[in-house]
Amino acid sequence: MLLSVKDIVKRFTADATPILEGVSLEVDTGEVVALTGESGSGKSTLLHIIAGLETSESGSVVIDGADLASLDDRGRAALRRTSIGIVFQQFNLIPSLNARQNLSFQARMAGQSPSAAELESLAKALGIAEHLTKYPEELSGGQQQRVAIGRALMPRPRLLLADEPTGNLDEATSDAVFDLLIAQAREAGAGLLVVTHSQALAARADRQLHLSRGRLAE
Ligand SMILES: Nc1ncnc2c1ncn2[C@@H]1O[C@H](COP(=O)(O)OP(=O)(O)OP(=O)(O)O)[C@@H](O)[C@H]1O
Ligand SMILES: [Mg+2]
Repeated sequence: MLLSVKDIVKRFTADATPILEGVSLEVDTGEVVALTGESGSGKSTLLHIIAGLETSESGSVVIDGADLASLDDRGRAALRRTSIGIVFQQFNLIPSLNARQNLSFQARMAGQSPSAAELESLAKALGIAEHLTKYPEELSGGQQQRVAIGRALMPRPRLLLADEPTGNLDEATSDAVFDLLIAQAREAGAGLLVVTHSQALAARADRQLHLSRGRLAE
């Protein structure tokens, strides 16, 4: 199994009811899994825990055979660099790098050197080819979002985690970009866990999970 999450419990304040109350899920190689749930239900928190960016009170996350708990900060960072592509809800583009440099950033971190042709073909597919010399602050929200998607896809990670990756796009662009994300994941044999508020988009996944009151339902 590519991703195996077991019994995750998470609370932000000790006395509060947990945000996640024993969440388990699996994502196989080549599988597309959609995660829905109302705002504040803990979807981003769960993705951050899976990426090793947030800790949990109990439970385990195993990615490609590696148990996050058995790794230190450096080990988790290395796993993120080599195996995980993350599209953050808030994009997290690097402000001092232009779109082209942001696009290739993750691939470079993973020790790859993507060719100009590869980069431009992805930029074209994402509809941002004309904006590659712009810096994040010069890009619209939707353009930034597509750079963030490209940055995650570029190194062809084994596991893609995407947090409302089309939340800032109009319906037509959102459709196209979501299709591209799924196609690229399938083509690369990656597993994709994607958060979305759109039922129509979620329906395109192989499986749908719904997070409510700290628990997941199929
Ligand atoms: N660092 C934090 N400290 C305290 N509470 C937090 C923190 N991060 C998130 N929360 C709380 O945890 C809950 C889940 O937040 P999360 O961002 O995971 O929700 P979400 O399902 O991604 O929502 P949305 O659809 O709006 O993005 C929220 O009630 C939020 O206020
Ligand atoms: Mg969120």
